[in-house]
Amino acid sequence: ADYAQALTPPMGYNNWAHFMCNIDEQLFRDQADAIVAKGLDKAGYDTVTVDDCWMQKDRDANGDLQTRSETFPSGMKALGDYIHSKGLKYGLYQDSGTVTCSGGDYAGSYGHFDEDMKLFASFGVDYVKMDGCNVPSVAGETQEQTYKRIYFEEAQAIKDSGRPMMLSNSAPAYFSIPTKLPAWYSVMDWSGDMSQLWRESWDIDVYNTANPSTSRWPGIMRNYDYNKPIQRFASVGHWNDPDYIIGGNAGVSPVEARTQLSLWSMMASPLILSTDITAIPDSFLADLKHPGMIAIDQDPAGIQGTLVSSDGTGEVMYRPLSDGSFAVSLFNRSGAQATVSTTAAKLGFAAGGSYEVSNVWTGEKSTTAGAFSASLGSHATELLRVTPVDGAVFAAPSGQIMAPQE
Ligand code: DGJ
Repeated sequence: ADYAQALTPPMGYNNWAHFMCNIDEQLFRDQADAIVAKGLDKAGYDTVTVDDCWMQKDRDANGDLQTRSETFPSGMKALGDYIHSKGLKYGLYQDSGTVTCSGGDYAGSYGHFDEDMKLFASFGVDYVKMDGCNVPSVAGETQEQTYKRIYFEEAQAIKDSGRPMMLSNSAPAYFSIPTKLPAWYSVMDWSGDMSQLWRESWDIDVYNTANPSTSRWPGIMRNYDYNKPIQRFASVGHWNDPDYIIGGNAGVSPVEARTQLSLWSMMASPLILSTDITAIPDSFLADLKHPGMIAIDQDPAGIQGTLVSSDGTGEVMYRPLSDGSFAVSLFNRSGAQATVSTTAAKLGFAAGGSYEVSNVWTGEKSTTAGAFSASLGSHATELLRVTPVDGAVFAAPSGQIMAPQE
């Protein structure tokens, strides 16, 4: 299959949530080396993306973007060649506006989509992240009409470049405030027609360079809350992206890091790591590579999980999987130890039958007649993979069973 199709949620690396603009070419070589040395590539994390701040402020006489030679002296093609030589794919950032989100020192792509996508193709780029800052307002168009027009132009520019580059589109993030509904929904609707994944809301990290160990938990919860109700926009090939996996960074405890992976895998989210891979703790590395967690995230049916219940303490999600099993997350959102439970009936199953349960993180196996319950520390999640057996059947809510159509 064509790489750009994204049949399962994309997995990889992006520097932004850890390094922001403090980047150079050696940093990406080091990250690529560490991804391979630590076996993350074999686990599926296959794309290394360079985010903002690699380009100069001014274009050259031909209108082409110019690379910052102080930080990327070998050029972006050479960096792509290095990343490819490690067996990885190459991702690169641009912005849809006049200058990037990092301000006036970095040229944006506005008015230059064709040249820029041709240039990216000549660099050997496989994955394009198109941000949405500093898009001018256009007379006679709503903000949504402008974004829609330019993002479709970008997608067309990628096609015209002749290289099948995946498109990560940030447009929805620029509509993710209550006063911009229903445009937010509309943007995600058309995003599925022109991109493989889209940043649907805010940046997950808390930018606090003065105090880097400030808890990043509120950011994780905000993006989880934005992503929960929008499962209808996700399907095979088209994914909601609630932003980076930020375990491994200061301000995220090991329990919280595991919870983020659990919740992101329930939501069929892209798993794009954003930390210093050369320095991640071994316990978190094992979580990142956990085959059971990855199998849920990458399930080929591509169905984003749904919230089943939430009582302010415990939250339960349900995700049907392609082999007839399903995943359940029991998440303790509170600040204290708590029991989080659900039942097969609440998940939509008829009475009778039983369930084989595999606790994904611990590997523990058990059987139940339909009760699922865990006593969990603050912010912890139990992730279960459950197989209905002995005649357990999924029951459509009464009144919704359709007569067979002739
Ligand atoms: C906003 C995006 O959401 C971030 O992920 C990052 O790309 C920055 N812009 C870069 O300026």
